Amino acid sequence: MRLRRLWLTDFRGYPSADVTLDDGLTVVVGPNGHGKTNLLEAVGYLATLASFRGAPTDALIRVGADRAVVRGEAEREGRALLLEAELVAGGRNRAQINRQPLRRARDLLGALQVSVFAPDDLALVKGGPAERRTYLDDALVALHPRHDQLRSDLDKILRQRTALLKQAGGRLTPEIELTLDVFDAKLARVGDELAAARRGLVDRLLPVLGRAYDRVARAQAEVTAVYDPPWAADGLAAALVAARRDDLRRAVTTIGPHRDDLDLAIGGLPARTHASQGEQRSLALALRLSVHEVVSEHTGTPPVMLLDDVFSELDPDRSDALLHSLPAGQTLLSTAGALPAGAVPGRVLRVHEGTVRAD
Ligand SMILES: Nc1ncnc2c1ncn2[C@@H]1O[C@H](COP(=O)(O)OP(=O)(O)O)[C@@H](O)[C@H]1O
Ligand SMILES: [Mg+2]
Repeated sequence: MRLRRLWLTDFRGYPSADVTLDDGLTVVVGPNGHGKTNLLEAVGYLATLASFRGAPTDALIRVGADRAVVRGEAEREGRALLLEAELVAGGRNRAQINRQPLRRARDLLGALQVSVFAPDDLALVKGGPAERRTYLDDALVALHPRHDQLRSDLDKILRQRTALLKQAGGRLTPEIELTLDVFDAKLARVGDELAAARRGLVDRLLPVLGRAYDRVARAQAEVTAVYDPPWAADGLAAALVAARRDDLRRAVTTIGPHRDDLDLAIGGLPARTHASQGEQRSLALALRLSVHEVVSEHTGTPPVMLLDDVFSELDPDRSDALLHSLPAGQTLLSTAGALPAGAVPGRVLRVHEGTVRAD
């Protein structure tokens, strides 16, 4: 998979941009605050229809404009693909492939795949469970775009259930009970399916994760990742029944896949609380690398790698280890400073105040 060319209109600080990428390594350089990450973010948007910085769509549209367009010319198995996403302020986003409008923008998912490494990734290890759930679910979508539907179904049911619990005000009338039964049956179905998918993914990631960690950390360690939700043994339906009184009282869904965690440990100790900063960084990188590897293997082609300012956070050893543990493929790397030794860019893009030009 290759992204050959990228066009932007009113995306972030870019009124317009037209960029050609190298098949190997393209480096994006420029002073901080001038639009390096924005450029990588646009590529990420084309792949996932979301910002890897977690920004809402409206923040991606240039201030003063009411829509933005990201268009990319990709190549997959020798075939050219013209991908286009249109972001509409406060409205429905649209997408096209080869100039054919898609019924739903989400149908663009999977056409282009990216793996992102960013300084924020440390939060995968140091942050709360939500970071790790997003990590797992993003990986599931990269493997099978249909998982995106599962995720949005879950969000929708949870929103409806919360609204109902609030409306109940702690009292279980027959009417509320009936509706709750319907919601819970749906929630149980979606939850069990998502948990099974997450578990299958973790099984696939584990062996790769251990090897990736050893490479990045340049040390042998026993790394474990365990996804074992407390409700899984008896299924979500039973857990929801058991939690119903509590849920009613607190007007939230206290148990389910939206509360799960992925427990990470290094040498038997919880990574979040016991690992050193260096070990945590290595583990965060290894988590990203292992998804990249599993997705490459699954789809037969490595995703486009986006490395956003990662070398500012890594010591030279880890930077070097990262560069050398990337599977062959296309990489887009942003940096405000020097490149690590060993990086040989095929193309350098200079960003300055919302403009970009090739060297
Ligand atoms: N929606 C927007 N409209 C206009 N400019 C924006 C928008 N979002 C971000 N910017 C500009 O982009 C700049 C940040 O660019 P960024 O790519 O993060 O910089 P860096 O080169 O440090 O990675 C901000 O300083 C801001 O001026
Ligand atoms: Mg940046």
